[in-house]
Amino acid sequence: MLGLATALIAAYLIGAIPTGVLLTRLAGVGDVRQSGSGNIGATNVYRVAGRRLGILTLVGDALKGVIPVLYAAAVLRYPDLQLGLVALAAFLGHCYPVYLGFKGGKGVATALGIYLVLSPLAVLGAFALFAAILWQWRYVSLASICAAGAIPFLVLAVNRSLPLFLATMAISALVIFRHRANIERLKNGTESRFKA
Ligand code: G3P
Repeated sequence: MLGLATALIAAYLIGAIPTGVLLTRLAGVGDVRQSGSGNIGATNVYRVAGRRLGILTLVGDALKGVIPVLYAAAVLRYPDLQLGLVALAAFLGHCYPVYLGFKGGKGVATALGIYLVLSPLAVLGAFALFAAILWQWRYVSLASICAAGAIPFLVLAVNRSLPLFLATMAISALVIFRHRANIERLKNGTESRFKA
C-alpha cells in the first residue's frame, strides 16, 4: 500500500504533466505559452490551435485530476482528509509544474476532473452556472471564476464533509488567484471573448 507521501508526490507529478504544451508541440503549432493569453490550458489551446486540440487538452487536463483522486478513493480507500490532500497535490501540479519551471496553468480543467470524482452532483450545479455565464457574456475566465466561487458550497451541500469543503476552498482560491490577469482584463474591457 502506498504511503500518503508517495501518493501526494505521484498526484503532483501527474498533475504537472503539461498537456497543452505537449499537444501543441506534437501537433507542430509551436508553444502555446507564446500565443494568445499565454496560458497552457484548454481555452488558450482552443484559441491558438483549434477545437480538436482544445478539447484534447481539456480531457487530458481533467484526467490529471480524475486519475490520482479516483485511485486514492477507489484503490487506496482514503478518507476525505487524505482525498482532499491528493486532490490539492494534483491541482498544485497543474498550477506549478516542475516540468515547466513551476509556471503552469489556472487549474480549471484539472479541478473539473477532481470534482467529477469527488462530487459529480456539485459539478452539475457548477457547470450550469459556468454555461449560463459563458452563454450570456462569452468570457471563459468569468465563467470559470464564478464556478470556482460556487463549487465549495455545492460540495459542502452535497458531500457534507468539512475536509472536502476546505480542500475545495483552497482549490477555488487558487483558481481565482491564477485568474488575476484575466480579472484585470475583464475590468478594463480587454478580455477576449470565446468564439465557438
Ligand atoms: O481556464 C482558463 C480560462 O478560464 C481562461 O483562459 O486563456 O482565456 O486566460 P485564458
